[in-house]
Amino acid sequence: HKRVPLIAGNWKMNLDHLQAIAFAQKLAWSLKDAQHDFGTAEVAVFPPFTDLRSVQTLISADKLDLAFGAQDLSAHDSGAYTGEISGAFLKALDCQYVIIGHSERRTLHNETDEVVAAKVGAALRHNLVPVICVGETAEDLEKHGPSAVPVAQLRAALAGVTGAVDIVVAYEPVWAIGSGQAATPEQAEQVAAKLRELLVELLGEDVAAATRILYGGSVKAVNIAGFMRESNVDGALVGGASLDLDEFASISRFQ
Ligand code: G3H
Repeated sequence: HKRVPLIAGNWKMNLDHLQAIAFAQKLAWSLKDAQHDFGTAEVAVFPPFTDLRSVQTLISADKLDLAFGAQDLSAHDSGAYTGEISGAFLKALDCQYVIIGHSERRTLHNETDEVVAAKVGAALRHNLVPVICVGETAEDLEKHGPSAVPVAQLRAALAGVTGAVDIVVAYEPVWAIGSGQAATPEQAEQVAAKLRELLVELLGEDVAAATRILYGGSVKAVNIAGFMRESNVDGALVGGASLDLDEFASISRFQ
């Protein structure tokens, strides 16, 4: 089964809408220029909510080969939820993806496994592809080993999900996020293989074989190739390095 690799840039709370337009345009050009030696990766950016309209307009007007999505969504579809953004709104802006359960949301915004599962349901209801983030802390790693917590988080996130769903899983060890200390490709592969086993159990062979599992945590141009060589790692979720144009373009070429 051949999975199209996905290189995803999570901008987090960076780049206002003017900076977003300039950045997305330069990025798309730079990917295009490099197309001759470019792999087959799909490249997606995840700007703040307030940038999405600008990025959508730019991509559709210039027919840029760039996917995009949001960094979060509400578990609810509409109503009295001040400050929340529904999946319907994201879909109306042509978002294809939405990140769910990033460790920063789990720890800084108290998102539980139940909230994550509800948000996965909301994404699927609105035909958005959820990028479901899982990962263990350094303490979890010491106590439970490498895969127990990510596997439990994914099981919880998929509670109630059945059928031929289109999802992406991002394995992001919390200790590797923004630390400059990435996991080794072997560590990433070990957990990704366990996550895929769980996908087989919960969703069947076909969905498991089609689902992209990304690695995230201090991915840079200098270490991307090692991750991409692993059979169960199908791309990367990039934070800090996604804000550096040349670096992110290099990562998108796996070099
Ligand atoms: O969503 C991205 C991850 O949090 C990784 O961030 O590449 O800055 O370590 P990082």
